[in-house]
Amino acid sequence: MKKLFAALIFAAMPALALGAGGNYPLDKVDIDLTDKAAMQDGLRTFANYCMGCHAAKFQRYERVADDLGIPHELMLDNLVFNDAKIGDHMKIGMKPEDAKAWFGAAPPDLTLVARVRGTDWLYTYLRTFYEDPSRPLGANNKVFPNVGMPNVLAELQGRQYIGCKQVQVVEDGKKQFDPLTGTPITHEACDQLTIEPKTGELTEEQFDEKVKNLVTFLAYSANPVKLESQRIGTYVLLYLAFFFVFAYLLKREYWKDVH
Ligand code: HEC
Repeated sequence: MKKLFAALIFAAMPALALGAGGNYPLDKVDIDLTDKAAMQDGLRTFANYCMGCHAAKFQRYERVADDLGIPHELMLDNLVFNDAKIGDHMKIGMKPEDAKAWFGAAPPDLTLVARVRGTDWLYTYLRTFYEDPSRPLGANNKVFPNVGMPNVLAELQGRQYIGCKQVQVVEDGKKQFDPLTGTPITHEACDQLTIEPKTGELTEEQFDEKVKNLVTFLAYSANPVKLESQRIGTYVLLYLAFFFVFAYLLKREYWKDVH
């Protein structure tokens, strides 16, 4: 009995861990898995900004290149930074024990992270790093409090910190506007993520788009056969619709004599 209890506690642990700090409202993101340009851009960001620490070891470079319409040469020259060959898995050189010593936690493999966390979580996580001098690497995160990962996209996003700013008043889920002038009604709110203008290479909109593309790539990576399943699914439905007509005609033919 005791053993069973212990087993249940352990089984519940990942859920508890995921739940920790999970009260920050997640931003919704609309992912389009047919948008190859978005996935290519996401792969570029992934190779440049993430693969220093994270691998995607269940994926092969070749499969990704083929799925995303990238010629093998181009992939090897621009997106593979170690001496990997095109058929190799997307592994990295960093040792988990070194990483643990540097960041306090080993960076997990990201091949399947979009399935584990969901795309909204990833989209929000990657946009909510903020400056926090009390942390060892100077950064904290809204959806993953006290995260071990540094703010690696800061040069693109700019300096984000917790500050006060004017935010639009929302009542019953509706943004409020002044009925006379039509201008948004705002109030000053503190504890808000605020980006210092012109400190990053991208504007806020451009940065959101970049992260969306990165999340699109991660969503593809977690389920590369999804597109194929959807394509086959369409054919199956078309076939059934087509078959129905003949089945119906045949039924009519058979029952003619019965009536
Ligand atoms: C300098 C090393 C480093 C780089 C570069 C880096 N990460 Fe991380 N990342 C980490 C570490 C360390 C953790 C573990 C944090 C923890 O558990 O506290 C982590 C955790 C994560 C997690 C949370 C996984 C989970 O489910 O717990 C995600 C998602 C993630 N990283 C995505 C990314 C993406 C996307 C990039 C590229 C934009 C990136 N990381 C770049 C070190 C890094």
